[in-house]
Amino acid sequence: MKDLRTQVAIVGAGPAGLLLGHLLRREGVDNVIVERRSREYVEQRVRAGVIEFGIANFLEEVGAGERLRREGLTHHGVELRFDHQTHRVALSELTEGKTITVYGQQELVKDLIALRLGDGGEIIFDAEVSELDELLGPRPVVRGRGLEDEFRIECDFVAGCDGSFGVATRSVPATALQRHERTYPFSWLGILAQAAPTTEELIYARHDRGFALYSMRSPTVSRLYLGVAPSDTLEMWSDERIWEELNVRLTTEESPKVNEGPIMERSITAMRSVVVEPMRYGRLFLAGDASHIVPPTGAKGMNLALGDIRVLADAVVAQLRSGDERLLDDYSATCLERVWRAEEFSNYMTQMLHPSEDDFENGVQRARLRQAVTTREAATVLARNYCDLNSI
Ligand code: FAD
Ligand code: DHB
Repeated sequence: MKDLRTQVAIVGAGPAGLLLGHLLRREGVDNVIVERRSREYVEQRVRAGVIEFGIANFLEEVGAGERLRREGLTHHGVELRFDHQTHRVALSELTEGKTITVYGQQELVKDLIALRLGDGGEIIFDAEVSELDELLGPRPVVRGRGLEDEFRIECDFVAGCDGSFGVATRSVPATALQRHERTYPFSWLGILAQAAPTTEELIYARHDRGFALYSMRSPTVSRLYLGVAPSDTLEMWSDERIWEELNVRLTTEESPKVNEGPIMERSITAMRSVVVEPMRYGRLFLAGDASHIVPPTGAKGMNLALGDIRVLADAVVAQLRSGDERLLDDYSATCLERVWRAEEFSNYMTQMLHPSEDDFENGVQRARLRQAVTTREAATVLARNYCDLNSI
């Protein structure tokens, strides 16, 4: 049995857990990160791609944004495509110069891992946390099993950064948490393809056959998504069918065909909205997907996770430095205000862009889309939320 003591035990080495570990180390707060998967696995896991303006600036300020600035793609606008026409939302013009940065989540994860290991820090990979104990007492305990031994970590605080349905949320008695949830009648099929993007800016498309999204990772790699039925499996989607459907949904008379290339990665993700509150139970603090899920249509999930950590790191440091509990006491309420704004925006984008079985709903979707591209007020709200929701 490995017996460890630390100030903050962090469960999960996703973007949330890794950023928290980095911010605490910078402030001299001892912490241990435990991750059930291998380093290779978390560095290859393809997920999010859009980083908000304020979050990108924050990462740079705290020394984690150097490669992001160098290799990330800065975008000043985004396209909404519907009824065979395309409309540009001029993000920068509508937000006094703000932008988004397209940079793969796994690249940020690689950067944060390299930073920690580079200055002598450690991450315990291949180690699954199975139990959190004594959360209401002064010294919580985290238990689990690594490749060789079982481990026990005694700490001042536990950060539950273990993603959705993780051990952190499960360790809280059901009576102490409220769960708000919505599921949607579609999933996303995402692919990463060795193909030069045919477009410079992202395209969100509502087509009568379903949703499609054109994104990218570099001048030679495209990232594309299709809205599919929740019961669909990858076996039902051959490469040929994927490209054909992308072309139908994304191409207009004026736009070029989608560039095709070898598909390097593919997955299907169900769409859900979930909020678990409060984000605290005694000395356990929940952050990121452990306490809230958004459907990916607004590109908010990772940003929201990093936004939680910005608040949590300050609160933990204040408590450990001077015993001041006020920021920790406010943590959940401070985050939830922003979390619900992100839930609203992600729900709005999702409902507007995925055609429905209900004809009335389709009329409402079109009206919303027309409003978003023809009125400056609606476009401004969309642009502000898309570019920088976590810093408004
Ligand atoms: P995670 O990244 O899930 O990390 C949790 C970690 O905890 C994992 O590494 C897991 O292995 C580990 N873990 C779990 N249980 C245990 C345990 N018991 N013991 C030890 N370790 C454990 N967000 C955006 O902001 N922009 C986008 O463009 C975007 N696009 C997306 C597209 C898709 C297809 C998907 C699926 C998601 C997208 N998201 C996007 C959402 C984003 O990926 C998540 O919100 C983000 O990963 C949340 O980070 P996290 O650190 O909270 O959780
Ligand atoms: C990407 C993912 C999203 O969910 C989104 O809304 C925009 C882009 C991406 O992976 O690039």
